[in-house]
Amino acid sequence: MRRKLVAGNWKMQGTLTQNAALLDAVRSGMAAMNSVDCAVCVPFPYLAQAQQKLSGSNVKWGAQDVHQLDKGAYTGEVSASMLHDFGCSYVIVGHSERRAIYGENSQLVAEKFLMAHLAGLTPILCVGESLQQRESGVTEKVVAEQLDALIQLGGVQALRSAVVAYEPVWAIGTGKTATSAQAQAVHAFIRQRVASQDSQIASGLCILYGGSVKANNAAELFAMPDIDGGLIGGASLVAEEFLAICRAGVPS
Ligand code: 13P
Repeated sequence: MRRKLVAGNWKMQGTLTQNAALLDAVRSGMAAMNSVDCAVCVPFPYLAQAQQKLSGSNVKWGAQDVHQLDKGAYTGEVSASMLHDFGCSYVIVGHSERRAIYGENSQLVAEKFLMAHLAGLTPILCVGESLQQRESGVTEKVVAEQLDALIQLGGVQALRSAVVAYEPVWAIGTGKTATSAQAQAVHAFIRQRVASQDSQIASGLCILYGGSVKANNAAELFAMPDIDGGLIGGASLVAEEFLAICRAGVPS
């Protein structure tokens, strides 16, 4: 059985003082919860703080983006080996905010994913459709294109120790969660698409749902057969709420 993973995406939020309290609370709340994996993806400047606060605990940390190349004259960018230097386990790639606001396409996202892998990180590949795409019936087409760009560049093997996060854009930060049936349908589609190339990789693949996951809807989502946990935005900034979501991932 796949273990559940609950990962927080803090986005561009936090201060040293707020983070200290949040990280301490998550660390201590997770101490007795060993049957679920937990991580926080923090802004770059706070990676050292996350490392210092979480080292030796069962809470992993990571970043929210990475450059596609390893080093060079790329002012303002951060490489995968730098993230590795700070003890990161995870990095999010292709979040819809980066695709929409910064124009990242699936080819670039695939390059970032592979560079993260090469540096020993677990990439979290975000995929998902906009409201307009859902309403025009092209959800599967959109998600397939996002997934296939990676498989074309890196082969299906690239998904062996990786995470995919299905995040419908219309559910992010809106309080409008996909129903568990809607999410399950897309998760099953993703798993089948991977299975058509390698069934073993597909059955081990961790597929997270993201988009307005809260303490009061996590259990229902996590009960679905192809939902292996969540990628949590707003609710990951409140320790009690985040820990309650983690608790929903504990096998019953
Ligand atoms: P919310 O949980 O705030 O909707 O954000 C989801 C998300 O974008 C996680 O990456």
